[in-house]
Amino acid sequence: MRKGKLLLGAGLAVMLAATLAHAKTETVEVIHWWTSGGEAAGLSVLKNMLAKQGISWKDAPVAGGGGSAAMTTLRARVTAGSPPDASQMLGYAIQDWAEQGVLADLTPIANKEGWDKAIPKPLWPFSKYEGKWIAAPVNFHSTNWIWVNKAAMDKLGITPPTSFDELIAALDKAKAAGMTALAQGGQAWQEATMFEGVVLTTGGPEFYKKVFMDLDPASINSPTMATVFQRMEKLRGYVDPNFSGRDWNLATAMVIKGDALMQVMGDWAKGEFVSAHKVAGKDYGCYRFPGTQGVVTFNTDQFVFFEKGKALTPAQHQMASDIENKSFQIAFNLKKGSVPARIDVSDAEFDACGKKGMADLKEANAKGTLLGSMAHGYADKPAVQNAFYDIVDRHFNGQIKTADAPKALADAVASAK
Ligand code: BGC
Repeated sequence: MRKGKLLLGAGLAVMLAATLAHAKTETVEVIHWWTSGGEAAGLSVLKNMLAKQGISWKDAPVAGGGGSAAMTTLRARVTAGSPPDASQMLGYAIQDWAEQGVLADLTPIANKEGWDKAIPKPLWPFSKYEGKWIAAPVNFHSTNWIWVNKAAMDKLGITPPTSFDELIAALDKAKAAGMTALAQGGQAWQEATMFEGVVLTTGGPEFYKKVFMDLDPASINSPTMATVFQRMEKLRGYVDPNFSGRDWNLATAMVIKGDALMQVMGDWAKGEFVSAHKVAGKDYGCYRFPGTQGVVTFNTDQFVFFEKGKALTPAQHQMASDIENKSFQIAFNLKKGSVPARIDVSDAEFDACGKKGMADLKEANAKGTLLGSMAHGYADKPAVQNAFYDIVDRHFNGQIKTADAPKALADAVASAK
């Protein structure tokens, strides 16, 4: 009798363990920083797709563009021995994590589904480690854009600016009309996003590479960089007094409402226009940061999966596979403001800004002017990226004089690299 009870108990325990294991495989806990309207809409496409496949989503959001805050949370979770199943991640940080040996190998899925043919080569140094796929890219975002309220543009008689001087002329018109000319949030990553556009328009793609990829001291502390900081100071003059700490999507909302003329921001801003039911080309204009047409500074959102000492769970496997699904990439990117990471996807369903994004990307890829975004981790390892953030932020907030900024930047980068 007693033995029978014990056996029954053991049987129940086995069943319970099996149920728990099963439940586990049907959930994915995901760290990400997609908390704005457009970002949440994009994420819902993924959540819904997984839900239809019987996989539930355990949300672990950590707000903050560029992902610095999310990466701090992730580090704490991994250190504590409880990594999530998956995490959003950008650029060089992916390689750092791969080096630590905690990321799952996605190569069997990638080989079965032909990722090598679909994902363009410039992403491979980020998404692969020692020849193995360790990240699933979901999109191409790019950072060298301006987003302009069309009604304000027409009222002020502004045509799309194509040089830095034309940009200033447009901003002057808005300022004279009593509008906030430039919608900006005072956070280091937002200023860094603007800074890389100014570096590109001032020095061109070769200078951009010397500064952000080669970390060349003579280019960083140069007369061209002096002009860059003068231009940053100039732009600061068009920002309203309440910018400090403002989230990027609230700055986008100022443009959507017509309280501000424009925002310098990556094309996740388009996701906000889309979720506010605004129409590209009619309600808002998307133009390359003046003087940078022909070059694309990219950042690609990718998902990595934590191994937790064993093979991928079925839920992790399904999520990685779904991310590279062609129809998913279309549906997701229509909401997110980005364009597909796959190059074999049609632009038919995309609006004017999406079509432009895809065409610019193709052109830049062919011309060799597809450059990684510093502000979003695709030019440098995180320590160097933070050195750029620090000096650009302190300069923008008046704590470093314009004349001193190039040398301060060269010193900070030298000690971080
Ligand atoms: C990410 C975007 C995100 C943006 C703002 C960027 O680093 O790549 O997907 O929308 O930050 O949160």
